[in-house]
Amino acid sequence: MSFTLPDLPYAYEALQPYLSKETLEYHHDKHHAAYVTNANNLLKDSGLEGKSLEEVVKETYGKNVPLFNNAAQHYNHSEYWKSIKANGGGKIPGALEKALIDSFGSVDKAKEDLVQAGVTQFGSGWAWLAVKDGKIAVLKTGNADNPLTQGATPILTVDVWEHTYYIDYRNRRPDYLKAFVDNLVNWDYVSERYEAAVK
Ligand SMILES: [Fe+2]
Repeated sequence: MSFTLPDLPYAYEALQPYLSKETLEYHHDKHHAAYVTNANNLLKDSGLEGKSLEEVVKETYGKNVPLFNNAAQHYNHSEYWKSIKANGGGKIPGALEKALIDSFGSVDKAKEDLVQAGVTQFGSGWAWLAVKDGKIAVLKTGNADNPLTQGATPILTVDVWEHTYYIDYRNRRPDYLKAFVDNLVNWDYVSERYEAAVK
């Protein structure tokens, strides 16, 4: 089995004005594609052929750094594309909304903490909503790291590598993150991930 670059679940221009066609072309067709190619090359003779992507990520963590980096970046990007959509933000499905209020006190606080995690992730990395021990937590990770290696299940993924926002926002990472929570998050997908994680 080898890894496959998933198609974007929307058109390249669908997320404008928040993320441009040019950004999605580079981010998906160049960056994400390269992680898939590299992961497939490194998977050969790793002893992990035939394992699922999640298993490869967990089993290579701290052991096979090049394969971990590329497989985790494939996982992270695949989740990122599904975490956003055209006309995102807006209404949050009831059970997820309740869980966010239980975990953070309010939906606004959850969004604020997520933005803050993305802003304060020094250098390249990711911000997340993840389920651990039945609660939703905000996490941030450097480079390719992700919550799977911490025993948590990611339900929302925000890429804060510069390649994500530099074409559209230059150095203004906070503005990208604000657009992400207000106009891009696919709460229906996050809700699906949440329901599966707490089942
Ligand atoms: Fe990225």
